[in-house]
Amino acid sequence: MRVFVTRAMPDEGVRILIDALGAEQLRVRQEDEPISRAELRDNVRDLSGLLCFLSDRIDAEILDAAGPSLKVVANFAVGYDNIDIEAAAARHVYVTNTPDVLTDATADLAWTLILGAARRTGEAERFLRAGRWAGWGPRQFLGMSIHGATLGLFGMGRIGRAVAARAQGFDMRVIYHDKQPLDPAMAHGLRATFVNKDTLLTQSDVLSIHCPLTAETRHAFGLKEFQQMKRTAVLVNTARGPVVNEAELCRALEEGLIFAAGIDVYEFEPTIHEALLRQERALLLPHLGSATVAARAAMARMAAENIVAALKGRQPPNCVYPHSAS
Ligand code: DGY
Repeated sequence: MRVFVTRAMPDEGVRILIDALGAEQLRVRQEDEPISRAELRDNVRDLSGLLCFLSDRIDAEILDAAGPSLKVVANFAVGYDNIDIEAAAARHVYVTNTPDVLTDATADLAWTLILGAARRTGEAERFLRAGRWAGWGPRQFLGMSIHGATLGLFGMGRIGRAVAARAQGFDMRVIYHDKQPLDPAMAHGLRATFVNKDTLLTQSDVLSIHCPLTAETRHAFGLKEFQQMKRTAVLVNTARGPVVNEAELCRALEEGLIFAAGIDVYEFEPTIHEALLRQERALLLPHLGSATVAARAAMARMAAENIVAALKGRQPPNCVYPHSAS
């Protein structure tokens, strides 16, 4: 078996792999649930290509189990913190991701959470479904206004910029923090101002996280940061769970340090901090950032094309290791 896909994925990608490599070269695990560590280890032996998901931890142990035949690990995600890049580099294995095709879907979901958390839609819907609504009330579920407010973005890559572009429709002031400022023309087009992290924390009415998970960004948001934020602020995370200290987020919500949170990703996914589940002011989704039919089909095609390129002796188009020339 030359290529293994660790869980069921959209047909668009499977078709590309079959057409290019032949069905006999491919094994697609049909389960929707993540693969266990033991099953993954058993299935990678002597592979040439591994198509994996953000739920699969690909480290030195798995790469060694695959052996020297392995040429490419294609992640079905733009984030690739689940893959040990150094271990792959040491074994000369390409690592690829699926950028661009999920940018709009993820930015749209960030906006779903921004609006939903600010306007308390989860809390209000639970109230209504519980049969507790006795009619319109002038003080019911009052939320925060988004129109004209300040949107702070932590991370200004493709998704952060797409979230910023949508903010123009709400007449928002946009500030952002990243390792470095954007090119001035791009920042001007987005009407976005670079600020330091302290300013981002103290001035944002909505603070949306769009950075990758790295050693520097792990727990970039904890109690210290929540204490700096406005008590009326809304925090949104559609990036990676461990960027936020989840226990401290629960405490911040309990103590009213921030107004609400819209969360799509979790520190110990799929386990969610019990206090967060109980927290009315948290709008919680099950990692749906890229979950549109079109985005997932495009991700499947892209991951499959990355595998095919590597197995046909070409550098895959979406390499995160080694970095693509483009
Ligand atoms: C990604 O691609 O990194 C997303 O989190 C997947 O939904």
